[in-house]
Parts: sequence; C-alpha cells; structure tokens
Amino acid sequence: MTIYRATVLDITDDSPFPAAALRADEDAGVRVVDGVVTERGAYTTVRTAHPGDAVVDLRPGLLLPGLVDTHVHFPQVRIIGGLGMPLLQWLDECALPEEARLASVDYARDVAADFVRGLAAAGTTTALVFGSHFAPAVDVLFEEVTRVGLRVTAGLVVSDRSLPEALLTTPERSYAEASLLAERWHRPDARTRYAVTPRFSYSAGDDLLDACHRVLKDVPGSWFTSHLNENPAEIAAVGSRFPTAHHYLDTYDRHGLVGATSVFAHNVHPTDDELELLGRSGAAVSHCPSSNSALGSGLFPLRRHLDHGVRVALGSDVGAGTGFSLLKEGLQAYFVQQLLDEDGTSLTAADLLHLATCSGAAALGLGEVVGNLSVGKAFDAVWLRPRAGEPFDVGLRHATSPEQALAKAFALATPADIGGVWVAGDRIRADRVKADPVAGDLAAGC
Ligand code: GUN
Ligand code: ZN
Repeated sequence: MTIYRATVLDITDDSPFPAAALRADEDAGVRVVDGVVTERGAYTTVRTAHPGDAVVDLRPGLLLPGLVDTHVHFPQVRIIGGLGMPLLQWLDECALPEEARLASVDYARDVAADFVRGLAAAGTTTALVFGSHFAPAVDVLFEEVTRVGLRVTAGLVVSDRSLPEALLTTPERSYAEASLLAERWHRPDARTRYAVTPRFSYSAGDDLLDACHRVLKDVPGSWFTSHLNENPAEIAAVGSRFPTAHHYLDTYDRHGLVGATSVFAHNVHPTDDELELLGRSGAAVSHCPSSNSALGSGLFPLRRHLDHGVRVALGSDVGAGTGFSLLKEGLQAYFVQQLLDEDGTSLTAADLLHLATCSGAAALGLGEVVGNLSVGKAFDAVWLRPRAGEPFDVGLRHATSPEQALAKAFALATPADIGGVWVAGDRIRADRVKADPVAGDLAAGC
C-alpha cells in the first residue's frame, strides 16, 4: 500500500471535449493498492486513515495520468527529423528503407530498445503502435514492452503492393503470421494486445484487407488501425487503385474494418460522407499534429470531426512526427486550431490533457482502466518535476491557478522534466530501460 503525495491534475471520464473541466487537487493523497487507485483526497486525510502506508512524495511538480499515444511507429525511432518532404517521398526516402532493415532481428531488437525507451521517457504509458512488416521484429517489440512494463497494442504491418518487395506479404502469410503473433501476445486483461495493421489501402489489395478482417474476427478483443486521408497525392492514388470505392474510408469499410475498435491516423482531408461514417460507426481518429506539419500534410479539421460526433485522440506519429512527447503534440494541436481562424476550435490546457489521456484511453477501449487517476483506475501516472531555475520551474512557481500550471506544462515541459513514470503502480525504472546499445549505426539518408 502506497500513498502518493502530489498536486494531481486530470480529467474525469464524464468531462466533455472540448470545454473539458480540469480536476485539480493540490497536496492530494492518492492511495494505491495492487496497482489500483483505492482512495484519493486531501493528503492529510488519506494519511491519517492509513498511518502505516509507505509515502512517496512527488512534490514539487505535477502528477498527471500516464499519457496515451494512439499512433506511433516502432521502426521509425531512428529516422525522426527527416524534414522537407511530403508523405510519399518521405516514405520512399526515409521510412521504408529503415523499415526494411528490421528484417534483421538483431537490428530490430536494438530499435525496440530505442523505441520503448523513447515512449517511457516521454511519459507515455499506453500506446497503439504500428509494428513492423517482419513478424520476428514484432515479437521483439512485444518482448521489450513486456520487459519494461508499458501497455501496448500492436501488430504486424501488412502490405501486398506498391512498397519495396522486401516489405510485401500475401493474404495467406499475413493471416498465418498475425494469428501466431496474436496467440503469443494478445492478452486483453494484461498489458499487450494485438492490432490488425494494414499499412494503408494505398499498399493493400482487397484480398489482403479481407485477410485483415478475418484476423480481426478471429482474435476477440483485437484492435484495428491504419492510415486515412493524410495527403492529397496519397488520396488520389487510393482513388485510382479502388475505382469503385465511394471514398478512401470505404476501402476499409467494405472489408468490415470500420467500427468502434478502429483507429485511423491523420484524416486531414476527409469528406463529409467519411466523417459521417466515422461518427456513426464509433471509430476514432488519431490526430498527429507535428507529423501533419512536418510533412506539410495540412491543418486538421477538428471542428468538422466534432460536428459529426467523431472521437479524436492524439498521436505522435514518430517518425514523421518529431518526437515522443504528447505534451508537445498537445501544444501542436492547439497551434493548428489557432491557425484555422474561424474554422478552428479553441482548445484549453484541460482540452489538451483530455486529448492526451482520457480521449486516448477511450479510443483504445481502455477507458475503464486508464485515462485518469480516479478511484478504481490503474495507477498509470507521470510526474512532471521541473528542473530548478528552468522556465518550466519559474512558470509553475508563478502560476496562479491549476489551469495556468497545466498550460505551462504543455508549453514548456519536455521529457527532461519527467521525474517518474508508473504503470499499474510499477515504477518504470530508468535502469530497466536499455541504454542506446550501438553508436554509429543510424540509417543513412534521414
Ligand atoms: N502512411 C503509410 N505509412 C505511413 C507512415 O509510416 N507514416 C505516415 N505518417 N503515414 C503513412
Ligand atoms: Zn503513421
């Protein structure tokens, strides 16, 4: 039994988005038993009731729920920062050559260590991860997240056309490999789950998408994720590859892949019909603002998503996205809406926290388990501990309200300000997160 003493900021499950209400408890006590929050109140009250408990003092700073990344690519950690290219050129020149290197399981193991360290160091405790085109690489990803203790939903990335030969599969092989991976790693009551993951319908034919549907059906509780409407050239190419589809989303929908367990990344250029279908089906969209800016993909039409009742969460989209920090993604989401003028949705710091925590948890079907620090939820948490004298520290000391303090966190906090990360009450120990194993073997070109 442990009591965590901290200033706790989170968003309750019934809080709307946007216009979320921040729940702020200064000098709170959060009592955790077997990884679950059992009490939350004034520190002195909780302490008095449980004088024998261990106390972990997380002052100064802020305690937030663990952050939830709904779109991030495992093989791309080493190519973050390939700037100056639109999507299809960036895939050809940066992402796909690096992804081909994961054919080597030794290389994949090193990349998995880099990747999981990146997530944990940024305070991300739950993620929906694009795996690799190579099944052994997906195994080593799951091994590493299990060793470190994060909550990860991931799967084999599949394509059967329009990519380099080494990254292609067949419908039969994709089904067989996905089934074996799911058998090993799909544990809905634990921390790892399987995600059916066609890369995008640009690189997937109808038979492969049918095989994806079969995996989704045959693995109860599995999730579905892919890309959607990211870039005009990509959208036009999908249109010519699927001449009878009503729109990009229909290429998935006609294979039964659009539903409440689906998460589509980007959706920067949707039609109203697609938004209507997303809203009606309960599918979620992962908004990846730094990636959208880095690749020049466009400004995310949040207002139109909300008008159609589409659920939206946040994704870092590493490595087109420029880092693992969901605090930075929240700030970028805010910037984009500011730039949209009258079409933009003004977001508050509480809205950004909603996007980065409980919206993400709900999009992944984990809203009962994580997303805030309410009684009954797992103690998945991130402690922002400002470095003395740095602008974040100065800002926190001069904040006049919890809302202001939270805005400072989104504006100023970086992974260097993270003092601790917990999943189900287990502290993610820095010494369990492997150091960069090899210097000098970065991918060429990006
Ligand atoms: N569409 C297909 N693959 C990718 C990818 O790796 N990154 C992004 N941003 N979009 C994609
Ligand atoms: Zn992506």
